[in-house]
Amino acid sequence: MADKTVKIGLVGFGTVGSGVAKILLEDSDYIKAKTGIKLELTRIVDVDTKKERPVKLPAGLLTNDLNGLINDKDIQIGIELVGGTKIAKDVQLKMLASGKDVITANKALLAEHGSELYTAAHKADKCIAFEASCAGGIPIISAIRTGLAANKIKAIYGIVNGTCNYILTNMTSKNESFRTALKQAQDKGYAEADPTLDISGGDSAHKLAILSSISFGCEILPQDIYVEGIENTDIADIRYGGEMGYTLKLLAIGQKTSEGKIFLRVHPSFISSDSALARVDGPFNAVSIFGHAVGQTMFYGRGAGMMPTASAIVADIIEVAMGNSKKLFKHLTLEPRSNTNCFVSKIDELESRFYIRLRVSDKPGVFAQICTILARHEISLSGVLQHEEHNTNNVVPAIVITHKTRQEKITAALADFEKLEIVKSKPVCIRIVDIPQDSD
Ligand code: HSE
Repeated sequence: MADKTVKIGLVGFGTVGSGVAKILLEDSDYIKAKTGIKLELTRIVDVDTKKERPVKLPAGLLTNDLNGLINDKDIQIGIELVGGTKIAKDVQLKMLASGKDVITANKALLAEHGSELYTAAHKADKCIAFEASCAGGIPIISAIRTGLAANKIKAIYGIVNGTCNYILTNMTSKNESFRTALKQAQDKGYAEADPTLDISGGDSAHKLAILSSISFGCEILPQDIYVEGIENTDIADIRYGGEMGYTLKLLAIGQKTSEGKIFLRVHPSFISSDSALARVDGPFNAVSIFGHAVGQTMFYGRGAGMMPTASAIVADIIEVAMGNSKKLFKHLTLEPRSNTNCFVSKIDELESRFYIRLRVSDKPGVFAQICTILARHEISLSGVLQHEEHNTNNVVPAIVITHKTRQEKITAALADFEKLEIVKSKPVCIRIVDIPQDSD
C-alpha cells in the first residue's frame, strides 16, 4: 500500500490532549515507518488557548474555533477529549455528521449514551474508537474485540480505578486511614480535588458498563450495575481481612451465567491475598478476562495519566487510519436492553461469601445471639474471629465469615443484627469474591 497522510483534529487540550499532541508531533516519523501512514495533527481546539502546556505547538495549531475543525473536510479523524456528557456528545455527533471517524476516552459519555452514539456512527458509515476509555494505557478493548475474538466471555474482574487502588494499597501497606490515603492520592495527582466519582465507585461503573457491553454484546447502562464505593472503608477491616488471608480491592465485576443472566457490580471486595489481582498495587489497573476457550487472561498497566492514556488514543488513531477499526466497528451491535436474552440480575440474587464485622457487648451469650440470627436466615458460618480486647467500654469486634449464601439473606440478617441490644453500631459487611483459579 502506498504511504498516505491522515489529518487529525483534536478537541480538548488538557493533560491527555497534550500527551496525544506530543506523540503525534514528536513520533510521527516512527509511526509512519511502522504503519506506512503519516499522521498529521492539523487543528487543536480548546476554550483556553493561553495556558502553558507540557508540549510545544507550531504557531496557529491551537485555536478556540470548534466549527473550523468540524467543517474542515480534510480532517478525517476527530478526537474528543472534552470530558463530561453534554458538550462532548454534541462534539462527537457533529464530528460524525461531518464525515469524521471519532476517537474518545470519555467513559461517562459512552457508558450513558454509547448505544445512541454507535447508532449515529453506523448511520454516518463512520466509527467510534474508545481504547482509552476503560483502563488508560492497557489495550483492553482491543484485547476483547480482537485478541479474544474467538471467545465467549464468561467473566470480567477488574481493578479499573487507580485512585481507589492507590488509596486501598496505602491503607493496607502503610496502615493509613482512608482520609490520609486520599490526601496522599491528591498530593500525588492521582485523585481529583473532588474525588467523589472515583471513591464512590461511579468511575469504575462507567468502565464496567463499557467493558461488559462489548464483552456480552448487550446494551448495559450504569444503572444496571450495583455500586458501592470505598469511602466508608475502615482500616480495621483491612487488618482483620488480612489476618484471614484476604486483601481488599475495589473490583468491577461482570459475570454471565450459563442461563444467560448477567451480574454487574462494583464494590469493595475481599480477594485471596494469593491471587494475581491482590498483587496489583498503587495506581495500577488490571483486568482479568475469562473466555470459554482461552481460560483466564490478565492485563496490567497504568490506567490513567497523560502518556499512558495518550498511548491508547494514538493506538486508536493508527487503527482507524489503517481501516481496521471501521471493519470491526461495523459489527459492534449491542442487543437492546428490552431483549430478554440480555437479562441483568439484581444484587439480591447474588450468591457470595460474606465478611461481617459487628461491634458487640463483651458478655455471655453474644455469639449465641449472632448464630441464632444466622441460623434463622439459613446462613452457614465458615469462620469466626475475635481478639481479646483490653478496652474499658466493654465493646469488642466480632467477625464472622459465611459460606456461600444469597445476598438477600445477608441483607435480612444484617437488619436483624442491628435490632439486637448487644450490637453497638451498624454492622460492616464486605463481599468475599472467589476469583476462579485457572490452574492446571
Ligand atoms: N480517575 C481515574 C482513576 C482515571 O483514578 O483511575 C480516569 O478514569
